[in-house]
Amino acid sequence: MPKSISGFSKLTKDEKINWIASTHFTNAEEATKTIKKYWNSDTDLQKLHDEFIENTITNFYLPFGVAPNFLINGKNYTFPMVIEESSVVAAASKAAKYWGSRGGFKATVLNSEKIGQVHFIFNGDTERLTAFFNQIKSKFFSETQSITKNMQKRGGGILDIELRDKTSELENYYQLHATFETKDSMGANFINSCLEQFAKTLINEALQSDVLSEKEKNIEVVMSILSNYVPNCLVRAEVSCPVAELVEKNIENPQEFAEKFVRAVRIAEIEPFRAVTHNKGIMNGIDAVVLATGNDFRAVEAGIHAYASRNGKYSSLSHAKIENDIFTFWLEIPLALGTVGGLTSLHPMVKIGLEMLEKPSAHELMQVVAVAGLAQNFAALRSLTTTGIQEGHMKMHLNNIINQFEVTDSERILIKNHFKTNTVSHSAVVDFIAEFKR
Ligand code: MEV
Repeated sequence: MPKSISGFSKLTKDEKINWIASTHFTNAEEATKTIKKYWNSDTDLQKLHDEFIENTITNFYLPFGVAPNFLINGKNYTFPMVIEESSVVAAASKAAKYWGSRGGFKATVLNSEKIGQVHFIFNGDTERLTAFFNQIKSKFFSETQSITKNMQKRGGGILDIELRDKTSELENYYQLHATFETKDSMGANFINSCLEQFAKTLINEALQSDVLSEKEKNIEVVMSILSNYVPNCLVRAEVSCPVAELVEKNIENPQEFAEKFVRAVRIAEIEPFRAVTHNKGIMNGIDAVVLATGNDFRAVEAGIHAYASRNGKYSSLSHAKIENDIFTFWLEIPLALGTVGGLTSLHPMVKIGLEMLEKPSAHELMQVVAVAGLAQNFAALRSLTTTGIQEGHMKMHLNNIINQFEVTDSERILIKNHFKTNTVSHSAVVDFIAEFKR
C-alpha cells in the first residue's frame, strides 16, 4: 500500500479511515474500532465537530474538570479546566481554598489594546513616505468603515495607525502598525480584515500619489496580519496576606516559608532554565481555562512567552515580596481573549465553560485566567519549597499507572492502600501487582 495519496480530503470519512487503517496500522480492524469508538452517537453534534477542521476522522477527548471556590475581587467562581495532567485541577482547587480564607485573589485589567501590522517594502525616500502616509491616514479609517461599523457600536474599533521605519533592520522595510480595541471578541478576524483593507488602500493610494515619485509608487505589501504579542493587553493577578497568616499544614514556620518562596521566585526571575519550568506551571492553569472557554491557547502561549522575554532574557512571569510583614505574590501577563464569536458560540462544552463562569466579559475572563495561572504557580512553589512535588504528583499519577493493568476494584483498593505509606513509582506498582497476582 503506498503511503501517500492524492485527493484524500475528497474521500468520505469511512474511506479516510479505511485508507489510514490499512496503510499505517498492523491491526487495521483494531485501529478502526478504536477510532470509531470515539464518534459521538448524536449525529448533529458529531457533524459540528467534523466541520471544525478538515479531514476529521474522530474526536480526541481531554478531561473537562472544575476547580471551585475561587474568590476574585470578592466574587466566587468555579473554574472550568480542560487538561490531561493529573495534578493540575487538584492543585488549583487547593490554592483556591487556601487563598479563599486569606482574602482571595485580586485581579485588574491594566489595558486591552490589540495590535496588527501591514509589513511592506518601499524603495525610496522615508520623508516622502511619511508625508504620503500623513496625507492618506484618514483613508485607512474611512475605507474600513463597513468593517468597523459594528465594532464601533460596541465601543471598539481602530485606535491608531502609525508608520514605522524598520529599514535599519531590513532594507526598505516599513510597517503600518495599528492598534485596536475589540471589546468582548478576541478580534482576530476583525483585525485581519482591517489590515487587509489597509494594505489595499496603501497600494491604491500610492499609485495615485502626487507626493511619491514614479519609482516609489510601487509599494510591495509582504503580509498583513495581527500580532499575537499584545504587551498593552495586560492583566494583573495578586494575592497577599500578613506573613503570620500563611501558616498551615506543611507550613509550620510561615516566616521561613515566605522567605524560601520569595527566593524560589527570585531564582525564576534570574535563571532562564528555572524560569521556563516555573512559567510552564503557570501555563498549566492558564491553558486549562483558555481551552475550556474556547480561546486560542497557541496565541496565548506565544504572546505570554514573548512577554516573559521582553527585557532581553527569558524570566519569571510572577513575582513575590515580603514588605512590612506582608507577603505579596503577583503576576502580570498579556492576554488577548474573547467571550463572544469564534468557538465560544459553537462548541457546546465551551458554552458550558462560559456559563459556569456566569458569562464573563473578555476583561473578566482575563482576570479569571490570570488567577488560574497565579494559583497554579502558588501550588507548585508551595509543594516545591516544602514537601517536594513528587509526593502529590505520584499520588495523582497512581491511578494512571493502575489503569495500565487489568485489576479488579478490590485489587485497586489494595494497591492504593499500600501506596499510602510507600513511595509511588511505575516499577514499584508493577512489582506490587506482580507480587499479589503471583
Ligand atoms: C509541572 O507540570 C509543573 C511544575 O514543574 C511547575 C514548577 O516547577 O514550578 C511543577
